[in-house]
Amino acid sequence: MTSFTFNTVPSILVAPGAIRRLGEIAAARLGSRVALITDAGLVKAGLVEPALEALRTSGIAVAVYDRVVADPPESVVREAVEAARAHDADAVVGLGGGSSMDVAKLVALLLRSGETLDAIYGVGLATGPRLPLLLAPTTAGTGSEVTAVSIVTTGAHEKKGVVSPILLPDVALLDPELTLGLPPHVTAATGIDAMVHAIEAYTSTSPNNNPISRALAREALRLLGRNIRRAVRHGRDLDARTNMLLGAMLAGQAFANSPVAAVHALAYPIGGHFGVPHGLSNALVLAHVMRFNAPVCFEAYCDLAPHAFPELEGAVGERGAESFIAALAALSADIGLEPRLRDVGIPQDAIPMMAEDAMKQTRLLVNNPRPVTLADAKAIYEAAW
Ligand SMILES: [Fe+2]
Repeated sequence: MTSFTFNTVPSILVAPGAIRRLGEIAAARLGSRVALITDAGLVKAGLVEPALEALRTSGIAVAVYDRVVADPPESVVREAVEAARAHDADAVVGLGGGSSMDVAKLVALLLRSGETLDAIYGVGLATGPRLPLLLAPTTAGTGSEVTAVSIVTTGAHEKKGVVSPILLPDVALLDPELTLGLPPHVTAATGIDAMVHAIEAYTSTSPNNNPISRALAREALRLLGRNIRRAVRHGRDLDARTNMLLGAMLAGQAFANSPVAAVHALAYPIGGHFGVPHGLSNALVLAHVMRFNAPVCFEAYCDLAPHAFPELEGAVGERGAESFIAALAALSADIGLEPRLRDVGIPQDAIPMMAEDAMKQTRLLVNNPRPVTLADAKAIYEAAW
């Protein structure tokens, strides 16, 4: 008997140039004093100015917090909350990659509800209310604009998640023009991250794995698998960029309701200790985690294979699953991602420590199709090294 809950964003706007409509959307649905959360790189790249212009034209008072960094620490969240409070913000806009959107979610929540970060790490502990919130991604990867998750770096290297439907924004605004200038390596890494979201959502052992997530995962892989090479090689191709942004959003909806697993659990220590970007961290362990999982979920991998790679139509059995895994590894290499842990400067003797850390990601590991022991995690890292 099928029984599940599917939560998503009430309003999703997809249109080239949509960011120039931010003012009218904010006036109608958000508020009159907006805190805009972003990062300095986007300001420099000129992506923030059109958003500010649109807000000001509609008479909205906006304060910009542009000090979000990758893998944002708690201090950035607190600083952004204080900046928004000083502006007396009644609404929040997150413009950027996963980090900016994750911080924006927490600003909207903490400023309105008065909850504290320490009290809300975990699943379902944040209850809100929050300020009105709009999220506009500038990468096609995290899907954070449609997920109920914020990831924060705590202490030196560890990451914790706040997971609660209250974090789903009121509006997700997807403007593919915002992604036209992304460099090839970022396009590649974030695109693979989105593909991992679809694969892990599809095979998740979460009791809430559901037919909507699986349908979205298949369509996401179709869009991502068939457009990622073009988006990497021809960054100004608006059609490829639109399909990537759409695919990443669908994969985000999939895993927001059927959560990701061991690829992400093993990727986090790579980012946490060595500063490797999240998407690349995933790419580095993807094939090895899938090979570990294949004995128990080769049928699911065969189902997915032709969606991402049409030439794999008819893939069956463990050999079919291996052809899917090999195609993903070949894709990673083809779009310029480093293939091995050693290629991103990770020493082999760091593996036991990374494996210990990965085992702390119980929130993710519990969803993996095959139970992962400490010895398994070490073996997977060794294979990836
Ligand atoms: Fe991810």
